[in-house]
Amino acid sequence: MQEATATVSHSRSAYFDEAQSADIVNGRMGQGIDPRLEQVMSVLVKHLHAAVKEIEPTHEEWFAAVRFLTETGQICNAWRQEYILLSDILGVSMLVDAINHRRPTGATPNTILGPFYVANAPEYENGANICLDGKGEPLVVAGRVTDLAGKPIADAKLEVWQTNDDGFYDVQQKGIQPDSNLRGVFTSDHDGGYSFKSVKPRHYPIPSDGPVGKLLGAMGRHPNRAAHLHFIVTAPGYESVITHIFTPDCPYLPEDAVFGVKSELIADFRKVEDRETAQRVGLEAPFWSVTWDFALAPATKPAHVIA
Ligand code: BEZ
Ligand code: FE
Repeated sequence: MQEATATVSHSRSAYFDEAQSADIVNGRMGQGIDPRLEQVMSVLVKHLHAAVKEIEPTHEEWFAAVRFLTETGQICNAWRQEYILLSDILGVSMLVDAINHRRPTGATPNTILGPFYVANAPEYENGANICLDGKGEPLVVAGRVTDLAGKPIADAKLEVWQTNDDGFYDVQQKGIQPDSNLRGVFTSDHDGGYSFKSVKPRHYPIPSDGPVGKLLGAMGRHPNRAAHLHFIVTAPGYESVITHIFTPDCPYLPEDAVFGVKSELIADFRKVEDRETAQRVGLEAPFWSVTWDFALAPATKPAHVIA
């Protein structure tokens, strides 16, 4: 009589096989798990395995990738988020932003927030000057906040921030720049109007002293962002806009390190030489002037919350 042998039934695909690798890993997914997690992980596994098959890394190359990710994590702290920076330079931040902010024609487009936004910046009256270090070429920014039909939106909140003329945000140079230099909050008037004084922004490098900077260099890319001012515009009943405006004369417009430029956001900065006009706005000639209007779409989901 033949001795009974224990038989455990395994499907052939339970064991590793190079050709079927992604299906085998995804086949391990449990029952009743969160469907979104299941979708995300199975797509990631599919594309990750496809990339590894196309690249065919050596063990040394794979370990270099692990070391890069380790160093990227190790440099992160309360102020520095190197993984977001990695997402930025790979265009992923802008892609996620685009997917989540498909707006009607005529609405001001979104761009990425960037790491240097600070909540609760000082509130100013329209016309105030946010440049506290006296560096740079004076600039007047003015415009209106409207809905998509051009109707003024009163009491909209406009948060603005930019680097100083040396290319640093105040929070990058605590103790060197005055606190809250070149950032402030304005409120649109009854006609949707807003205005403030600042300085013409310059291009500046993203933080490039870490693994992401090293990667950029190795890929033959520079770390510069095209010159811009950041804005967040919020008003009850409307979709908030996180955006920038760009100077038209910046050489880095077509090669912004984080792909943040959209053609609709390149503004018309004009040099004003006329002394009387300068006097009227409380500046000396020459100064720069830009008119920029924001068009907000009706809110379709709750106003954004910045954690
Ligand atoms: C910024 O514009 O402030 C910024 C955006 C992405 C990465 C670094 C800086
Ligand atoms: Fe910036």
